Amino acid sequence: MRRLLLLLLILALCLEGAAGAETLVCDAEAPVHEISQTLYGLFFEDINHAADGGLYAEMLQNRSFENEDLTKPSFYQHLTGWQFNTLAKGDGILSLEQADPLNGNNPHYVRIQSGETGYAFQNLGYSASAFRGGLCVEAGGRYDVSVWLRSPQPGGMVEVGLTTKGGTPLSDTVVFTPGESWTKHTGVLAAASQAEDACLTFTLHGAFTLEADMASLMPEDRVGASWPGGGLRRDLVEALKALHPRFLRFPGGCVAEGSWVWDNLYRWKDTVGSVEQRKENWNTWGYMQSCGIGFYEYFCLCEELGALPLPVVGSGVLCQAREPREAPMDEEALAKWTQDVLDLLEFALGDQQTPWGALRCEMGHPAPFDLRYLAIGNENWGDVYFSRYAKIREAVRTAYPGITCVVACGPVAEGSLFSASRSRILRDFREDLSDEHYYMDCGWFLKNTHRYDQYPRDAKVFLGEYAAHEPAAGGRRPNTLYSALCEAAYLTGIERNSDVVALCCYAPLLDRLGMDQWTPDLIGFNGRQVVLTPNYYIQQMFSLSLGKTLIQSQMTDGDGKEIRDTAAGLYHAASVDGDGRMYVKLVNVSGQEKPVRIQIRGKAPEGEGTVTLLAGEKQAVNSLGGEQAAPETFRVSFAGGEAELLLPGFSAAVLTVE
Ligand code: AHR
Repeated sequence: MRRLLLLLLILALCLEGAAGAETLVCDAEAPVHEISQTLYGLFFEDINHAADGGLYAEMLQNRSFENEDLTKPSFYQHLTGWQFNTLAKGDGILSLEQADPLNGNNPHYVRIQSGETGYAFQNLGYSASAFRGGLCVEAGGRYDVSVWLRSPQPGGMVEVGLTTKGGTPLSDTVVFTPGESWTKHTGVLAAASQAEDACLTFTLHGAFTLEADMASLMPEDRVGASWPGGGLRRDLVEALKALHPRFLRFPGGCVAEGSWVWDNLYRWKDTVGSVEQRKENWNTWGYMQSCGIGFYEYFCLCEELGALPLPVVGSGVLCQAREPREAPMDEEALAKWTQDVLDLLEFALGDQQTPWGALRCEMGHPAPFDLRYLAIGNENWGDVYFSRYAKIREAVRTAYPGITCVVACGPVAEGSLFSASRSRILRDFREDLSDEHYYMDCGWFLKNTHRYDQYPRDAKVFLGEYAAHEPAAGGRRPNTLYSALCEAAYLTGIERNSDVVALCCYAPLLDRLGMDQWTPDLIGFNGRQVVLTPNYYIQQMFSLSLGKTLIQSQMTDGDGKEIRDTAAGLYHAASVDGDGRMYVKLVNVSGQEKPVRIQIRGKAPEGEGTVTLLAGEKQAVNSLGGEQAAPETFRVSFAGGEAELLLPGFSAAVLTVE
């Protein structure tokens, strides 16, 4: 409010009060270049439980008893997320079985031989603690529940409902009567009260043998309930949609490459078809991926968001940063993998007459997906990578000439590894998008806003992962307002170079708070709340004001001398779209308030413009407890093509003028 009042002091007609103010001249009739219309997008990777335990609407953890740490397998891993023989419900014998499973991709299930007094077991959801349940349910909320059951000696019943860990009911219950063969049982539970520590409780009535697999609990209100994977959490989809992303890069990151061993490679074919048939995989980030969000769901999500899909496939080299235990693919393995990649393109683009196109139709999407990009590799480098990249790329370009390939430029922003990758790409793969990744400190971002000024204009860049990192405190690198402003300052440089930088996306995207492996992240969440960071708001402000053409803009001081951004702490970019709208972006990374006189030349506006402003304390953060930095919007008056903005210290503003 204090800031708003300050800003209401915008002295549009009091220019005399602005002696010594910086002046930003934006010339609507001086176009510089076209701005890439795909500039702002998203990078989604299942890190920090972004998919399982996050965007995926499945509320149960380890629903299919397949959980197994590839690096140190053990029996107990298969029971992760579950508690057996709870609620003092009599006796029973639990075993983990593999004989005659649901299908070969889903080999484990549990068998319970219950005694006369019954037996109960529970799924705790994504609880950060072993001592409590972790399902968030809302009073009045309705939840789709399902489970595959079999009973070699039928005659018993299973009652399923939401309860506390101690067994206090939180919903009504449904009763399933298992038969002799695997059958999917479904029902709907209505929650009577709100809870953040609920469990899904299965209570066996009578002495009998029960086999159970693929249990599921999803809120009835979700996005994509008809998709084979089951759908996505609505509040998180809405948060992504509000960013108006032009593309979505998925499924990783390191997840896409596979870590340590080839069994860990993300194989898209294991993630399509019915959800029971999908092959789960151990996640590079230390948990099991259910693949309930598989490649079909990723493509559908892109449509939901209005974003172009940008899938990343492995390159035949395991994640190089993680000291692979197995050698890169040899000729034979690479040829098979290349065919898998071509099959992916057929899955997305082929018609019903093609085997993989037919699968897409069967899954519910007769029309092809709008696939234009394919990234081959993530953070790879060196001969071993480029030689394999060249082969897969050649096959892709021959079969699908319309596809733009994305080539990895390594995991760093500068130094010899970066330069070697960059030169190789410019020499051999100039028509491709060069995928740069860097996580650097805030100062680096401010110093490097001119990074792309000297790049050749014909070779395009995809800034596939970046974030400004603050020093860690308490094991976490915080998403401060200052880090967001440093990214904003950098993005003014990206917009000025958006003839070269065709796409860019912040990384990582999502963070289940308390269960994360990486900070900072763009959006935090728990089972029921979403936290939009200052960095999120910057992405949103920039994405919602993407012009079509960059126009000339110049900042001068009170004496008319040009100000270079780094010296003054003020950064800017201006653009126009085709509808007579102008966007002026201003970032103030200094702690001082700055009055800025804005002069619009060319088509000088009269009347009012709209300012969206993000401002606050330098170290402001947003959390489950509330927001310390969120955008505010207000109007500013123009007279004679001029207006004045009083930019608070530590702020970013987007001025939109019709
Ligand atoms: O964004 C998190 C990780 O950072 C990605 O998986 C990887 O590409 C990078 O090292």
